[in-house]
Amino acid sequence: MNILVVGSGGREHAMAWKLSQSPKVQKVFLAPGNGGTASAAAKNMGIENLPITDLHELAQFAEEQKIYMTVVGPETPLAGGIVDIFRAKNLRIFGPTQKAAQLESSKDFAKSFMKRHHIPTAEYQTFSDIKKAHAYIDLKGAPIVIKADGLAAGKGVVVAMSLEEAHGAIDMMLSDNKLGDAGARVVIEEFLVGEEASFIVMVDGHNVLALATSQDHKRLLDADLGPNTGGMGAYSPTPVVTPEIHARALREIIMPTVKGMAADGIPFTGFLYAGLMIDESGKAKTLEFNCRMGDPETQPIMSRLRSDFLVALDAAVDGKLNEVELEWDPRIALGVVMAAHNYPETPRKGDVISGIPADGSDHVTFHAGTSMDGDQLKTSGGRVLCVVGLDHTIRGAQQKAYAIVDQIKFDGAQYRRDIGYRAL
Ligand code: AMP
Ligand code: GLY
Repeated sequence: MNILVVGSGGREHAMAWKLSQSPKVQKVFLAPGNGGTASAAAKNMGIENLPITDLHELAQFAEEQKIYMTVVGPETPLAGGIVDIFRAKNLRIFGPTQKAAQLESSKDFAKSFMKRHHIPTAEYQTFSDIKKAHAYIDLKGAPIVIKADGLAAGKGVVVAMSLEEAHGAIDMMLSDNKLGDAGARVVIEEFLVGEEASFIVMVDGHNVLALATSQDHKRLLDADLGPNTGGMGAYSPTPVVTPEIHARALREIIMPTVKGMAADGIPFTGFLYAGLMIDESGKAKTLEFNCRMGDPETQPIMSRLRSDFLVALDAAVDGKLNEVELEWDPRIALGVVMAAHNYPETPRKGDVISGIPADGSDHVTFHAGTSMDGDQLKTSGGRVLCVVGLDHTIRGAQQKAYAIVDQIKFDGAQYRRDIGYRAL
């Protein structure tokens, strides 16, 4: 069977890597893929890049090449309706429809959905009128959180610690239009305190299958300092999601969301990623929904998955996730992201990468912002690589990951030295 994975990052490389190990899979096409998935090593595993990004062209390719299953990594094609386009051609694809993807692509949709279905989340109001938005901020005071309604590639959330910052965020979105249409409406919400955790499940419209727990590190620098990024590292499992929090998140957030979407006539299919804020009493509130897996969370999660991922995807597309149980490597997987010079602002491209060792039983290197220039591997994006180490202890997993990171060289490489510190 041939499989199509849509995307080009470390998350998609990890999915393709895992799928290529299925005895049922011949070839995994990655569209458009990256420098790592263009390599000879990838080719030996049956992974091949497909230089297509247009959603209709992808569907045409899937039809012509008799692709058995398509799985989508990033939110943009999902919000663009790739699942609807594939389904209209009777092609098997795992992901949410365009309407269901609004849980991520519109913060206002997600907030009003949660309010309607009594799903715990921060109190909020939505504005497109700038005067009313400023007045609401004066009424509520700081700290307060301002979120662009639409997809803004990680730049749409301002956690304002002062009134000045909050008013500035409103001007940036509603008057200077810095985020374009995505910021033409804003959600202003209550500032929550607590410990953050992410919770990722597979959903088939009705049934839910939880993936192994994970936690990512969003800030650029050690000790959670510096600017927010897409994620500088992640590990799985995480002690932050205790069995108690796991059960509560499923009962109070995930299940009501899946039931609510079905009741609203927009059944959710796909990966559902809830960003949670857990307060001192152990109560979780929803910070956000993503309608996809996390990056870099996927890299350690896939590294630990022992079951055949295709079997789970198949069951999900057939509405039979209740029949699947996943088996996990008991070891801890810890992924360290190596980012380009000047990430996250304006990452530099074109630095030559050297020293990546072959994968082993306790380490794997996933590519993201890399490309082949002749026979040279070069940086081509913000997050360049994610090196995963596996071991029975968190310290051991750290040592294994960093032993590989220390061998890999490119000018301007940035990475954190403390991934996993919360688990220690
Ligand atoms: P989001 O994309 O909505 O998850 O927001 C990005 C980050 O902003 C989150 O990971 C949190 O660290 C922070 N954040 C979002 N909403 C809130 C909130 N209501 N209170 C405090 N921090 C928040
Ligand atoms: N690592 C966070 C995300 O994928 O949204």
